[in-house]
Amino acid sequence: MVKHKVYVDNNGTTPLSEEVCALISKTLRSGWANPSSRSDDADVAAQLIKESRERISKVINCGEDEITFMSGGTECNNMVLNSISKLYSKPHIVISAVEHDSISVYARNLFKQGLITLTEVELNSKGGLEVEDVLSACTTQTRLVSIMLANNETGVMFDVVEMAGKVKKEFPGLLFHTDAAQALGKIPVDVAELRVDYLTLVGHKFYGPRIGALYHRLTAPLLPLLYGGGQESGIRPGTENTPMIAGLGLAAQLAVQGLSQKSLHMEKCRRYLEARLVETFGHKLVINCRDSLRLPNTSNFAIFLENCRSVNVLEGVQFIASKGAACHSHSTTKPSQILLNSGVSYEVAMNSIRVSLGVHNTVEDVDFIIEDLIRVSNELAQL
Ligand SMILES: Cc1ncc(COP(=O)(O)O)c(C=O)c1O
Repeated sequence: MVKHKVYVDNNGTTPLSEEVCALISKTLRSGWANPSSRSDDADVAAQLIKESRERISKVINCGEDEITFMSGGTECNNMVLNSISKLYSKPHIVISAVEHDSISVYARNLFKQGLITLTEVELNSKGGLEVEDVLSACTTQTRLVSIMLANNETGVMFDVVEMAGKVKKEFPGLLFHTDAAQALGKIPVDVAELRVDYLTLVGHKFYGPRIGALYHRLTAPLLPLLYGGGQESGIRPGTENTPMIAGLGLAAQLAVQGLSQKSLHMEKCRRYLEARLVETFGHKLVINCRDSLRLPNTSNFAIFLENCRSVNVLEGVQFIASKGAACHSHSTTKPSQILLNSGVSYEVAMNSIRVSLGVHNTVEDVDFIIEDLIRVSNELAQL
């Protein structure tokens, strides 16, 4: 019998949508030419890139020339930090204590090299980030604030609209970046409303290909990480990956189609999951950051059973979830620093499971997860 597998690790990566896959395959054949050449085929490729840029700019409400295609979220995030560290003399940069490694590890490296000064703003006990704490971390030396829209492990959302508004009012000229990797396709992402200067998009988090795009306000400074043939206005040179770029634009467009219904559906499944977890495991269950505003799809929890940890449970289950963030290699001996920094205790963090639902998951999938958890925890309890 083929074992039923339920995939609930969508914050790690999402399966490619059928339509996006079809467009990428088609583009591999019809859009193969170098978009910078002069031929009809080259025009086709250039047009596909133009269309993708148009689609993304409509989705996040910006100008087409404010979008640059990149290899992924890591490159977008590194690029913003690198630009600020080089364009200003030892600038002060403010980030949260739970940014993705592509922000935090790089920022700490720049700090170690003496190129920037750095403040990592701590979270409150519920895993939230206080606007006032971000504001009071800023000084007249601060050139950049980088705060993610939503955290990949806990799903907690940060009030970037309020933060960007307040810090920019108090410190005119300060630049604001947000990593929206986990946001698109789950909550609305509108750069005009957010009032940010830079924003990171990651295709494989919204059923798209594994590339990314960086929004940068026309007036916001940016330095390339790579130097070459001048593609992407010289900001990101290298012959364009036309099929993936075409796929990214379509994926972004599809991600926001019927967004409120999709979000409501994921939230309904998440609520059902957490209600069933409570009903099944009672006081043995801890749901992390449940009192903070979270993405509709993310639940991070630990189950404490005699003689077994919930990460052990995860090893025996048939559904596919994550112990921490699937986007970096995780250790089984150390708890996630992101969870610890989100107010989760060491013991709970060591035992935590992340279920991140996707638009295709159903309440039946949730029933499967619960039955699966019961089966494995019973098996483990008998050992
Ligand atoms: C919040 C966040 N930012 C950035 C990234 C980096 O994206 P990539 O690994 O595709 O470069 C990820 C996950 O992978 C993420 O979850």
